[in-house]
Amino acid sequence: MLSASDLVGEDGTTVPILILSPLGVRPGDQNRGIGIALTRAALDLADARSEPLVIVQGHPDYYPRFGFVRGRTIGVLPPEHLGAIDKAWMVRRRPRAFEAIRGRVVYSQPFIDLDD
Ligand SMILES: CC(C)(COP(=O)(O)OP(=O)(O)OC[C@H]1O[C@@H](n2cnc3c(N)ncnc32)[C@H](O)[C@@H]1OP(=O)(O)O)[C@@H](O)C(=O)NCCC(=O)NCCS
Repeated sequence: MLSASDLVGEDGTTVPILILSPLGVRPGDQNRGIGIALTRAALDLADARSEPLVIVQGHPDYYPRFGFVRGRTIGVLPPEHLGAIDKAWMVRRRPRAFEAIRGRVVYSQPFIDLDD
């Protein structure tokens, strides 16, 4: 699923972004290409929209194949309540979105409520 969220820049500017979450393949069906197909389909949908970034919090060895990089390396920080999760915090810029967008992600309320 692609979920709506926001990136808040140092100057307070808010940019709508997308989170690739949740994503899951039942254990008995894993390693058959389903996760890759689901992720590619989601990213095709994301690329057809205007949001410049897709965030994922997931396996660091899995998502680079789709163009995800560690968020901190390009100045896209996780929500403060998530703490230090460097390896798992990844970001993919929409192709041809060259502007350097930096800031901290603020999850939408349904995601925050899951932490309670
Ligand atoms: C991560 C997940 C979505 C992958 O889906 P999948 O259908 O099993 O994966 P696919 O069959 O499409 O892809 C297989 C490839 O991914 C790799 N892979 C699968 N699970 C992996 C994992 N947990 N970590 C790293 N690589 C993984 C396989 O080694 C394989 O690599 P290869 O193509 O180089 O041989 C699935 O394992 C899952 O649902 N995990 C539990 C929930 C989860 O972690 N969701 C992601 C958090 S947002």
